[in-house]
Amino acid sequence: MADLERWAISIVKVEYLADRQEFISTVAAWHRREWGYLRPVESLETRAAKVRAWCGHREIPTVLIASVGETLLGSAMLVAHDMDTRMQWSPWLAGVVVAIEHRRRGIGAALAERALADARHLGFPTLYLYTFSTERYWTSLGWRFIERTSYLDTEVTVMSHALQEQREPTARRGQAETCNIAPDHLSQGRGIANPRQLA
Ligand SMILES: CC(C)(COP(=O)(O)OP(=O)(O)OC[C@H]1O[C@@H](n2cnc3c(N)ncnc32)[C@H](O)[C@@H]1OP(=O)(O)O)[C@@H](O)C(=O)NCCC(=O)NCCS
Repeated sequence: MADLERWAISIVKVEYLADRQEFISTVAAWHRREWGYLRPVESLETRAAKVRAWCGHREIPTVLIASVGETLLGSAMLVAHDMDTRMQWSPWLAGVVVAIEHRRRGIGAALAERALADARHLGFPTLYLYTFSTERYWTSLGWRFIERTSYLDTEVTVMSHALQEQREPTARRGQAETCNIAPDHLSQGRGIANPRQLA
């Protein structure tokens, strides 16, 4: 990564869509652009309503966004379930998407890292995802292959990431709970979900 890009990523803010609801329609439009073919009857309005309903803070469900000022750069979600054929696993990282013009600058990785930190903070042992075509990307970020299976008439790869609880002194735990790219800008968590309620 060039020096200028390193500096740029340091000012990216990762926060909750709940606190920036003006971006809901853009996130919904990105979902439709990337995965609309899977749900062809779902309108943009319906998608936006779902995204709005998923807006939480440090809880499940949660929608995270990366932004600089008024520019939305990317989004990711934590949801209780993402595959109705794999209800035994929870929670899931879903809907990870970065604006086309801002890709390959570490934004997807930063969103994933923050989602892992939030899931870890909530006490879950493992986070799951499924992907159609980005297995190599997730492997490079430390995710492990679980299985290849058919879902929504397409071959997908299911992956997981362990979330070891890091029991450290209070000061260091506070650090670990924040995203590494903009720790001083992060919202405080509210309405923490109990993982056992989702099982
Ligand atoms: C996948 C995605 C989220 C990555 O976001 P990003 O911010 O560009 O990713 P990062 O900057 O963190 O990482 C970039 C690296 O990942 C690699 N990468 C990106 N997409 C990849 C893919 N589909 N397969 C393999 N590697 C990929 C890039 O080659 C790059 O590596 P390099 O710089 O060494 O060449 C983004 O490309 C995107 O929004 N794609 C469309 C939606 C999607 O497929 N989401 C994943 C759902 S599971």
